Amino acid sequence: MPSINKPLKIGILSAGGDCPGINAAIRGVGKTAIVEYGMQVIGISSGFLGLINEEYEELTEEKLSGILTLGGTILGTSREKPFKKDKNGFYHIDKPKLIKKHYREMGFDAIVCIGGNGTQRTASMMAQEGLNIIGLPKTIDNDVWGTDVTFGFDSALGIATEAIDRLHTTANSHKRIMVIELMGHNAGWLTLYAGIAGGGDVILLPEIPYDIKVVSDYLLHRAKARKPYSIVVVAEGIEKPKKERVATFIAREIQKHTGLETRETILGYIQRGGTPSHNDRILATRFGAHAVELIARGEFGQMVAKKGEITTSVPLKEVGDKLRLVPADFPLIKKGRNMGICFGDKFCDQEIV
Ligand code: F6P
Repeated sequence: MPSINKPLKIGILSAGGDCPGINAAIRGVGKTAIVEYGMQVIGISSGFLGLINEEYEELTEEKLSGILTLGGTILGTSREKPFKKDKNGFYHIDKPKLIKKHYREMGFDAIVCIGGNGTQRTASMMAQEGLNIIGLPKTIDNDVWGTDVTFGFDSALGIATEAIDRLHTTANSHKRIMVIELMGHNAGWLTLYAGIAGGGDVILLPEIPYDIKVVSDYLLHRAKARKPYSIVVVAEGIEKPKKERVATFIAREIQKHTGLETRETILGYIQRGGTPSHNDRILATRFGAHAVELIARGEFGQMVAKKGEITTSVPLKEVGDKLRLVPADFPLIKKGRNMGICFGDKFCDQEIV
């Protein structure tokens, strides 16, 4: 009698802030696991909370149909950090122990964790606790170390670029300065790319300290050079007084220093909502399928990554606490400077507007 192997049972969860493309990744994992490898796929609700509270639902092929284009996550998400200790270095409830217990009781052979930096850190700690974990990097911030790009970023870039495009016409009609604040946490990727794609005149990133006087002088110079309006694209992570929104602060300071009429726009969560772009659908599908291939090969403790055109993986313990920020010498910044875009620092050339 040939031995009948029990199918592998894999769990999948999404944690941290949502973004477009998570459902495409869940579908990529689930369909590859079921169709190609005959695995059983269990959806875990609300990130790591679902593992703590034992909230699961089997993801059949039927349940995975029709979700490719959906924004958000069918599994729900949370910012639960099970390894976070209290200020005395203790666990109020030993959540890591609970997670290990529930993992074993459920008979998981592996869990795929979809998330940004915080999620990959937790995933790495779970792997160090002996669980079979694969990380999938998603976030509109694009700041996960170890991969060239995360899914969610391209969709957010499209939304942010369209928003800047729309500001141009109203700014021109009123001859105003428009300040738009974009998300990105402590990284400037979204602001840099949307700023360039949307034709921003000033782009302020957390990675490049700015001087409001430099920004204001540049805008005054533009006004004197008969440029009827200006677009200032700012990242939420730049320096500002506590409790104030970046765009509010920057718009007020510009108006104060230049006397030019200035308005602010805070794009907010619109950047994270809605259907994923085609690039994100493809990336998330590739990442999801690759995660299952790693599981089938028994290669755990890895985060799926894109390096150039290759889908590959990096050890989760290397991703750890690192952040992928925009390097000061990033080529797109240099190209922008050479076109006269002001990044708010001493290299801002007022002669080229
Ligand atoms: O990480 C994604 C992100 O949207 C950041 O750009 C932003 O700073 C943060 O999440 C907002 O977090 P929350 O969903 O907790 O308000």
